[in-house]
Amino acid sequence: MQVWWRIRLPRLSVRGVRDRLDEARPRSPKPQLHTTDDMSFFSRVALVCSVALVMVLAGPEPGQAQDTFADHRYTSEAIEAGSRVYVAECALCHSRRGDGVDGVDLRRGVFRTASSDEDLRRVITTGVAGGQMPAFDLRPFELDGVVAYIRAGFDPSGVAVKVGDAARGQVLFEASGGCASCHRVNGRGPRTAPDLSEIGAVRTPAALQRTLLDPSAALLPINRPIRAVTRAGETIRGRRLNEDTYTVQLIDSQGRLRSLVKADLVEYEVSETAIMTPTTLSSDEVADLIGYLLTLRGLP
Ligand code: HEC
Ligand code: HEC
Repeated sequence: MQVWWRIRLPRLSVRGVRDRLDEARPRSPKPQLHTTDDMSFFSRVALVCSVALVMVLAGPEPGQAQDTFADHRYTSEAIEAGSRVYVAECALCHSRRGDGVDGVDLRRGVFRTASSDEDLRRVITTGVAGGQMPAFDLRPFELDGVVAYIRAGFDPSGVAVKVGDAARGQVLFEASGGCASCHRVNGRGPRTAPDLSEIGAVRTPAALQRTLLDPSAALLPINRPIRAVTRAGETIRGRRLNEDTYTVQLIDSQGRLRSLVKADLVEYEVSETAIMTPTTLSSDEVADLIGYLLTLRGLP
C-alpha cells in the first residue's frame, strides 16, 4: 500500500499526517485537511514547516513484529550469558569498558583483524598474538553469548545484530543480491539510490538490518521518494537530497540532479513508502551484507 502525504499548491491538502498527529482518532482511510485558497503564503509555509517538523520528530514507525528480526539477531538470554563470561574471562585484559587492549575496543566494535562473528569466534577459541591472548575453551552458548554481548555494545538490554562475512557480502551486493543495480559505491554504479560509499561509518548494524528487512519503517525523511508536477505539466519523480522552504533538490529517475522552485510546482508529494523492497535473502546472507556494508567507510 502506498502511503502518501501530499502538499498541493496552491490548494493545500495534507494527507496521512493527521493519523500521526491525532493518535486517539481511529485510522480513517483518507483523512484530509483542506485549507482555503486565500490562506496567505506565509501561513502555508508555516504549515509546511510544522508538518515537516512533526514528520522528523515522529521519526520512523516502530519496527514490525519481533519475528521479522528473530533469525537475524542474538537473543537477550545470549547477551545476558555473554556478559557473565565477559566479566569472568575477558575483562581482566580488555577492561570492563572493552578498551583495555591497544587498538581494540570491543564495546565499540573496533578490532584489529576480525570483522565477522565467525572471526570473533575463531579469535576467542584459538587465541591471538602468540598467546598474548590465550585460547578459550567455551561451551557453544557461552561462545555465542560473548559474541552477542560484544555485538550489543555491552548493553544487556541492547540489540545484537548478526554480522557475517564481508567478502561474501560484497559478492551478494554486486551480483545475486542485485544491490549494485541501484546503489553506487566508491564511484561505481547509478545515482538513483543513495550512495553507500560511507554507509558503514554513519549507520549502526541495527539500522542497516532494519533497512534491509523493513525498508519503509527504516526510511529516513531525507531519503523519502518524491513526485512533483510543474506548471508546465512535467511530472518529476526522484529521491530527495535536500529541501528548504522554497526549493527542493533531487536526483530524478534518470539519475540527473535537479533543483526545483516550489512556487513553480502545482503538485508536490512525499511518500513514506520506500522504493526498496524488503529483502528475500536468508538471515545468513543478510548478515554477510551487513558485514560488507560495515566495511564501507569512505575513501581512506
Ligand atoms: C590475557 C589477556 C587477554 C584476555 C584474558 C583476553 N584477551 Fe582478547 N586480546 C588480548 C590482546 C593482547 C589482544 C590483541 C592481540 C593482537 O595484538 O592482535 C586481544 C585481541 C582481542 C580481539 C581482537 C582480535 C582481532 O584480531 O581483531 C578480540 C575480539 C578479543 N581479544 C576478544 C576477547 C574475548 C571475547 C575475551 C574473553 C573470552 C578475551 N579477548 C580475553 C588479550 C586478552
Ligand atoms: C530498486 C533499487 C534498489 C535496490 C535493488 C536496492 N536498493 Fe537500497 N535503496 C534504494 C532506495 C531508493 C533507497 C532510499 C530509500 C528508499 O526509497 O527505499 C535505498 C536505501 C538503502 C539503504 C539506506 C541508506 C541510508 O541512508 O541509510 C541501504 C543501507 C540500502 N539501500 C542497501 C541496499 C542493499 C544492501 C541492497 C541489496 C540487497 C539494496 N539496497 C537494494 C534502492 C534500492
